[in-house]
Amino acid sequence: MRLRLWLGLGLSLVVVSFVLPRARAASPAPTGAAAPAKEPAWKAAIPLIPLPTPPLGSNADFSTLSFKVTPEKVRLGRSLFYDKRVSIDATESCATCHRPDNAFSEPTPHSTGVHGQQGGRKSPTFINEAWTIAPVFFWDGRASSLQEQAVGPMANPIEMGNTHEKVVAMIGAIPGYHELFLAAFGDDKVDLARIADAIAAYEATRMSGNSRYDRFEDGDLKALTEEEQLGRSLFLEKAHCAECHITGANFSDAQFHNLGIGWKASAAKKVGGKLTRDGFKDLGRYAVTKDPKDIGAFKTPTLREITKHAPYMHDGSLATLGAVIDHYAKGGTANPWRDPSLKKFTLTPKEKAALIAFLKSLDGEGYADTAPSAFPE
Ligand code: HEC
Ligand code: HEC
Repeated sequence: MRLRLWLGLGLSLVVVSFVLPRARAASPAPTGAAAPAKEPAWKAAIPLIPLPTPPLGSNADFSTLSFKVTPEKVRLGRSLFYDKRVSIDATESCATCHRPDNAFSEPTPHSTGVHGQQGGRKSPTFINEAWTIAPVFFWDGRASSLQEQAVGPMANPIEMGNTHEKVVAMIGAIPGYHELFLAAFGDDKVDLARIADAIAAYEATRMSGNSRYDRFEDGDLKALTEEEQLGRSLFLEKAHCAECHITGANFSDAQFHNLGIGWKASAAKKVGGKLTRDGFKDLGRYAVTKDPKDIGAFKTPTLREITKHAPYMHDGSLATLGAVIDHYAKGGTANPWRDPSLKKFTLTPKEKAALIAFLKSLDGEGYADTAPSAFPE
C-alpha cells in the first residue's frame, strides 16, 4: 500500500516535470511574464514549438528537404535569426531587413546595413523558398542553398559587417546557446555550418498558403469574388503573368529575366551603333554567369504576400501594384537585353483593378512570427 502510494507520487512527479514544460513550450512565443521563477526569461521567450503544419497550397513537406528540420533546430535558428549580436556592432539582426510584418521582406527600396550603409538591392522574402523548383537564392541566384545564403549577410560589410570567425566565437561564448546547440545537434559544438543549418530550418518553417486563391483552387468556388476570378484569368491568359510567376507554391519559375528594371538609356554609351550595358547600374545575373544574355536579368520573385512589401522589384523602383502592371503592359522597358517573352497588352481600368484584386487574394497565412523578447545568456 505504502509502496504503491510512493510509486504513484513518484510517477506523477515525473509526469509533472516532463509534461508541464512541454505544454508551456507549445504555446506561441510567450512574453516571459508567466515564466516560472527559476527559468531565465530567454528560455520562455524562445520556446520549443512543434513544427507547423504546412498551409494549403504551400506544397511544403519537411520530409522532402535535403536537410533535417526539427523543432530543436528551428528554435535555435529562430534565436539566431532575431539576435542582433550577430552583427559587428549588435545593431542588426536578419530581421532588421527581413521583417516578419513585411512577410520577411521590407518596406523600403534598399536595405540599410550596419553604420547606416545603403545596399543597392531590396531584401526579398524567403517564404516557401525551401521548396523552390530550382535552388537559386538572391536576386542574381549566386547562392545555391538556404544554408549558403544564410551566412553571406553576416560577413557582408554593408549588411551585418561581421566576420564568420567572430560570429562563431561570439555565439560560442554564450552558455545559453550551448544548450540550444546541444538540443539541436546532439552535442554543443558551435560552428558556421550548424549556424547556417539552424537558420535555414527556421526559414523553412516560414510558409504562406491557405489564401483565398488556394481555397479556390482547392474547389471552394466562392473563395474568390467575381472580380478576383476575372483577375485570375487575366493573370493566366491576357497578361500572361503565369509564364514566369508559375501558379502554385512559389509563383516563380526560379529563372532570370530582364524586364528593363533599372535601365537608364542615358547612362549607356553607343559603340558601333549598339548601346552598352552601362545603362544598368546593377547587371544582375550577368555578374554570376558572365553570359551577355543575363545582363540586367533578375530572379522571378514570389507573389505570395505581395501586399506586404511595396515598393517592388530588385531596386524597389515601382511603388505600387498598379505601377507594376503598367510596366508589363508596355512590354517592360526597352533595352538590348529585354526578355523576348514580354509582350505588350492593354487592360481596361476594370481589368487592371481585377488583376490587382487577384494579386491581393494571394495573401495567406503561416509565416507570422514576432521577435523573441529575450535571447540566450
Ligand atoms: C542589411 C539588410 C540585410 C540583413 C541584415 C540580412 N539580409 Fe538577407 N537579404 C538582404 C538583401 C538586400 C537581399 C538581396 C541581395 C541580393 O540579391 O544580392 C537578401 C537576400 C536574402 C535571401 C534570399 C532570398 C531569395 O529569394 O533569394 C535570404 C534567404 C536571406 N537574405 C536571409 C537572410 C538571413 C538568414 C540573414 C541573417 C543572417 C539576412 N538575410 C540578413 C538584406 C539583408
Ligand atoms: C518574363 C517573365 C515575367 C513575366 C511575364 C511577369 N513577371 Fe513579374 N517579375 C519577373 C521578374 C524577373 C521580376 C523581378 C524583376 C526585377 O526586379 O528586376 C518580377 C517582379 C514582379 C513583381 C515584384 C515582386 C517583388 O517582390 O518586388 C510583381 C508584383 C510582379 N512581378 C507581378 C507580375 C504580374 C502581375 C505579371 C503579369 C502582368 C508579371 N509579373 C509578369 C518576371 C516576370
